[in-house]
Amino acid sequence: MVADIYHELFSLKGKTALVTGGAKGVGALISTTLVRAGCRVFISGRSREAGERHAEQLAAYGSCTFVQHDLASAEQVQALALDLAQHSASLDILVNNAGTFNAEPLGSVSEQRWDELMGLNLRTPFLLIQALLPLLGAQASNADPARIINIGSIGGLMPQSNGAYAYGCSKAALHQLTRMLASDLRGRHINVNAIAPGYFPSDMTAGFFDAVPNLEQTMLGKIPAGRFGSQEDIGGMVIFLASRAGAYLTGSITALDGGFLGAA
Ligand SMILES: NC(=O)c1ccc[n+]([C@@H]2O[C@H](COP(=O)([O-])OP(=O)(O)OC[C@H]3O[C@@H](n4cnc5c(N)ncnc54)[C@H](OP(=O)(O)O)[C@@H]3O)[C@@H](O)[C@H]2O)c1
Repeated sequence: MVADIYHELFSLKGKTALVTGGAKGVGALISTTLVRAGCRVFISGRSREAGERHAEQLAAYGSCTFVQHDLASAEQVQALALDLAQHSASLDILVNNAGTFNAEPLGSVSEQRWDELMGLNLRTPFLLIQALLPLLGAQASNADPARIINIGSIGGLMPQSNGAYAYGCSKAALHQLTRMLASDLRGRHINVNAIAPGYFPSDMTAGFFDAVPNLEQTMLGKIPAGRFGSQEDIGGMVIFLASRAGAYLTGSITALDGGFLGAA
């Protein structure tokens, strides 16, 4: 039966997932997909209003719970892990999505902004993985490993800075962290992969498209697919990485960019 093979390979029904920054932008595309796929989903963010509104919107499809934490602080990262442990004895899927972007001329990059970018985009995923290892390992097996999906960026793969010095370096380092942890954690039945998105609609992309006249059209012209990314594009990739279909894949970094890097 056709339906059976889809179910066997791609079903996520009954899995527990955490998506950081899961109420907005790319994170909202991912959390919506996971809830619709039958996962019990936790989303985190700073904005309670946005988080609870998104969770309510998803209630018609399944289970989504918002937990409020500012992940710029290491204490709050620990608090998120403790919060999650109150709700669930295990975690099948962790999506490290929360992130921040900045682009400015070389001479203007401040020490403080550099540290903020590196902190949220790199240190936070590391500390969160560290804190969540017991939950991730709780139900993981060789046949069905737990999955960590780090949201990197094509900004961490391409040579051009476009002024995003700290951002690009934080994402390149997150890709490297993905490979290192994949190597360290496979023996503990935890797969670690990264998705490096190209351009997806979000507050982040709207911010820099607004800042530079015609940038949106210029970028669109450089994407062989002729469009920006969608919920189906990133949702489909996450379903693959998190399901039986992706169980044999770890340590990968996939540019999900409509051919921007690989086929232009
Ligand atoms: N959109 C793209 O085209 C694109 C391309 C490549 C990579 N990415 C990556 O995708 C991820 C999401 O980006 P996006 O485009 O969706 O950006 P966004 O719209 O700005 O969303 C950022 C998310 O992170 C959360 N967040 C930000 N600062 C936080 C903090 N200090 N503590 C906790 N949560 C925080 C935000 O929630 P609150 O504001 O409620 O805290 C929000 O949910 C990022 O890692 C980004 O680098 C995006």
